[in-house]
Amino acid sequence: MRRIAPLVCALVLGFASGAEAQSAAVSDAGAQAWVRIFAVASHPRCTNCHVGASGRPAWDGLGYGATKLHGMNIVAGDSRIGAETIPCRTCHIGAAGPNDRPHAAPQVDDAWRLPPVELAWRGKSGAEVCAQLRNPETNDGFDLADLIDHVRTSEFVRYGFEPGAGRTPAAGSTATLAKDLQAWGDAGMPCPQD
Ligand code: HEC
Ligand code: HEC
Repeated sequence: MRRIAPLVCALVLGFASGAEAQSAAVSDAGAQAWVRIFAVASHPRCTNCHVGASGRPAWDGLGYGATKLHGMNIVAGDSRIGAETIPCRTCHIGAAGPNDRPHAAPQVDDAWRLPPVELAWRGKSGAEVCAQLRNPETNDGFDLADLIDHVRTSEFVRYGFEPGAGRTPAAGSTATLAKDLQAWGDAGMPCPQD
């Protein structure tokens, strides 16, 4: 027994440091994945819709300067689809289009609208967006599996990566974003402020 004990000890320690190294690698990968997720979430192709209570969509990064609100005084209102004033579908149609004419209203196969107010990302820091996203209570009920499903299937997210008409796309694809969300989730959704 006296001889075995140190051996067992060494084995246990060996396993422990192996597991620690593995979990350090997972949390490293998660932190790096978050940097890429936020690079997408803070891109104008996403933040022009992900605006807050003002209900004013934006035209940032479309050739009018770094920041610019949607022309023609468009306001989405509580309905988030402009039902109170001019509905988004007046110009954005709500059916797939070629999106090949610069500065024409983008068209996708869904009713063009703003997300709920709590999903506002425009002008927010990485720490703020991260805290909001990982908490289903401030995330319109989306948990990790819902988030991944959403980015894989949403016509709006796809548009952000393939906007057409010479617009700058967000970096990556729906597949790379889904993969990064999974890596971030596997690491316990780390945020820069943790
Ligand atoms: C046309 C407006 C529009 C654009 C552009 C848009 N979104 Fe959204 N987004 C929405 C709406 C609306 C919802 C609410 C869910 C729904 O109704 O489909 C949403 C919800 C989400 C959600 C799930 C809930 C949450 O945590 O915010 C994620 C993730 C998301 N969007 C990511 C993106 C990313 C990434 C981009 C850019 C690549 C993007 N969106 C571009 C309108 C948009
Ligand atoms: C009168 C026509 C019109 C109406 C109504 C309208 N839009 Fe637009 N929208 C446009 C045009 C045109 C563009 C393209 C601007 C450009 O690329 O220079 C645009 C672009 C956008 C963009 C920027 C997309 C990007 O890739 O960055 C968002 C976001 C947007 N609209 C949201 C909305 C929302 C939400 C509504 C309803 C509340 C709405 N729009 C109503 C004409 C309209």
